[in-house]
Amino acid sequence: MKKSVLITGGSGFIGTNLVNHLINKGYIVHNVDKISDVSTPEKFKPQSKNYFFYKFDISNKLKLNKLLKKNFHFIIHLAAESHVDRSIDGPLKFYLNNVKSNLALYETLRNLNKKTKLLTKVIHISTDEVYGSIKKGSFKENSMVYTSSPYSSSKASSESIAQSYSETFNINVCILRITNNYGPYQHPEKFIPKSILRGFDKKKIPLYGRGENIREWIYVEDTCEAIHKVIKKFTNQTIYNIGSNERISNLKTLKIILNNLASPYKNILFVKDRPGHDFRYALNSRKFKNKFKWKNKTKFTKGIVKTIKWYNKNYDWLQTIRKKYKDIRLGKNEV
Ligand SMILES: NC(=O)c1ccc[n+]([C@@H]2O[C@H](COP(=O)([O-])OP(=O)(O)OC[C@H]3O[C@@H](n4cnc5c(N)ncnc54)[C@H](O)[C@@H]3O)[C@@H](O)[C@H]2O)c1
Repeated sequence: MKKSVLITGGSGFIGTNLVNHLINKGYIVHNVDKISDVSTPEKFKPQSKNYFFYKFDISNKLKLNKLLKKNFHFIIHLAAESHVDRSIDGPLKFYLNNVKSNLALYETLRNLNKKTKLLTKVIHISTDEVYGSIKKGSFKENSMVYTSSPYSSSKASSESIAQSYSETFNINVCILRITNNYGPYQHPEKFIPKSILRGFDKKKIPLYGRGENIREWIYVEDTCEAIHKVIKKFTNQTIYNIGSNERISNLKTLKIILNNLASPYKNILFVKDRPGHDFRYALNSRKFKNKFKWKNKTKFTKGIVKTIKWYNKNYDWLQTIRKKYKDIRLGKNEV
């Protein structure tokens, strides 16, 4: 029997890649997404009889209840407001969406589980940002959670909700804390797509502070493969870090992009840093790698070339998206 998977937020960046990835692996994929400004249109989803789309906000418990009665084998829970800068400009929206939608999901599962034994296993997608910043070394799964932004704090709250429903109400949950993703379908307001698109146009590219902050970058296809590993060998009530070990300063990342575009460094525009900007993210992913025999395949220098090619191919569509959000500076906490 083919396994059925529900992806929440399957029209976002990781979601769109994951929908396509799992359809190619032979799963029956259901996607529920409220469709926001960052979502990709349905034309980017597979033309397949195994793909189903539902447009609604998962905070709507009535609609969610009806959908979850399908008793999916897996839920891959991605739906969230995800842009740190936007969480600085409007924290309340982030807390309301990210906390309310998680309560709705787990509460609905709890109620259904009381009536009929659910098959459903939840793969709850979280972020390395729940640990905050680390000067040297790397975070392990038992490191302290210490969040700096409304985004990361809303994600830590989401994890907490998931854990409590798992411990108290026997909902099967595995939490994945994943580092920064890049690749096709990421919204142009995020750092890498913004830099590529501005690079194409030979426009100035803003860089926060002196560009010294360090991120651990993982190619989105590697993330999809990691999630697929968990589908194949689910472990309940476990937290895993998933990273690439490729820790690069934002300035170096931007220089790699500009080198690939044959664009001059003089287009780098250093701008005022954002408040609460974590300096360095670094994950120790040994637990996940050992358990699942997984290793990220795409080195940053290769992945960025593929990413640039994708943005080049989809330039016209991306222009319409850029017009919608006006390509302005976010996350300054100024009126
Ligand atoms: N992108 C990364 O680098 C990264 C890294 C680690 C973890 N994550 C996590 O992975 C998940 C996906 O990230 P992304 O970059 O694809 O985000 P994204 O912002 O591109 O996509 C999120 C999608 O979720 C949908 N959504 C949000 N709230 C919803 C709700 N209440 N009901 C239904 N749909 C809703 C949005 O419409 C959007 O399509 C998020 O939970 C994020 O915190 C992302």
